[in-house]
Amino acid sequence: MAFVILLVTGVYVAQFYAPVPEDANQSVRDLVTDVWLGGFARGLHYWAAQAMFVLALLHLLRVFFHASYKKPREGNWVVGSAMFLLTFLAVFTGTVLKWDQEGFEALIHNLDVAELLGGAGAWFTSELTDRVPILLRLYSAHVVIIPGLILLLFVWHALLVKRHRISPHPEIPVPEEEVPEPFTAHLQRVAALGLVLLGLLSLLGVLLPPVVGPTPVDGIEVTRPLWMFWWFFPMEEWFGVASIIYVIAGVFGLVFLVPFLDRSPKRRWRERKLALGAAGLLLLALAATTIQVWINNPKGH
Ligand code: HEM
Repeated sequence: MAFVILLVTGVYVAQFYAPVPEDANQSVRDLVTDVWLGGFARGLHYWAAQAMFVLALLHLLRVFFHASYKKPREGNWVVGSAMFLLTFLAVFTGTVLKWDQEGFEALIHNLDVAELLGGAGAWFTSELTDRVPILLRLYSAHVVIIPGLILLLFVWHALLVKRHRISPHPEIPVPEEEVPEPFTAHLQRVAALGLVLLGLLSLLGVLLPPVVGPTPVDGIEVTRPLWMFWWFFPMEEWFGVASIIYVIAGVFGLVFLVPFLDRSPKRRWRERKLALGAAGLLLLALAATTIQVWINNPKGH
C-alpha cells in the first residue's frame, strides 16, 4: 500500500519536477508553494517512503524470526531482500532529487564511493557520459528503473507465496484440517489497513512536512542524512570513506545469504540459538550506531 501511495504521489510530483541541476531545487520549492496539493503530495511521498522502508524491514524481521526463509522458500527470501535493497536505493535517489545541501552531500558520498569502485562505479560518475547530468540519471533510476524492478519482483514474490503458501508459525502446530482464509478476505483486510495507513501518512505529511534547503554549496559538509542511513553514517569518520562500501555490502550481503548460511531445517526458537543470537547482535550494533548519531547529532564528518 505504501508503494501504491508512492507511485501515485510520485507521478503527480514528477509533473512539476525539473530534473536538471540548474532548476531542480527551485522546482521543488515551487511545487510546494504554487502547485495545487503539491505540498500535500510531496509530504505524503516523503512519509510513504519511510513507511515502506519500515514496513519492509518489519516484514523481513518477521520472516527471519519465524524461520520462513527455510526450504522451500529460500528463493523468495532472496527476491524479498532484493526488493528491500531497491527500497533503500529509492529513498537514497529520492533524497538527491531535491538538490539541496543534504541531497548534494549524499550524491558526493556516492561519487566518492563510485570512484573507489573503479569501472564498476562508472554509472555514478560523469565518465559514463558528460552529456546527461548525473541528477538526470538518478532521476531515471528513481522514477522508472527502481520502481519498475520492485513491481516485477513483487509479482514474482507474490506468485512464490501463492505456490508455497504462508509458512506456519514455528511454535503453533497447524491443525490437520485447516481451511485457508479466502484471498478476497485477505484483500479486504489489506485495503482496510491501507486506508488507515493513508490517513496516518496524510496526517504526518500535513503536520510534519519535509523541508527543502537552499541550493547546495560544493566543498562543505554540514548536513546529516535521513535516519535510515545513520547506521553507516559515522563509519567514514571512524574508518575512512571506503568503509562505507564494506559496511553496506557486508550487511546487505549477510541479509541475502541468510538461507544459505543457516541450512538447518529447525524452526523452533529454542533450536535456533545461534541464528537468533547472531541476528540479535547485528541488530543491536545497527541500532546502537543509529542512536549514537541521533543523540550526538553530527552534521557532516
Ligand atoms: C519505491 C518507491 C519510491 C520511494 C521509496 C521514493 C522515495 C522518495 C524520497 C525519500 C524522496 C525525497 C522526498 C523529499 O525529501 O522531498 C523522493 C522524491 C521524489 N520522488 Fe520518489 N520514491 C519512490 C517512487 C517514486 C516514483 C514512482 C516517482 C515518479 C514516477 C517518484 C518521483 C519523485 C520525485 C519527482 C521526487 C522529487 C520531489 C521531492 O523531493 O519532493 N518517486 N522520493
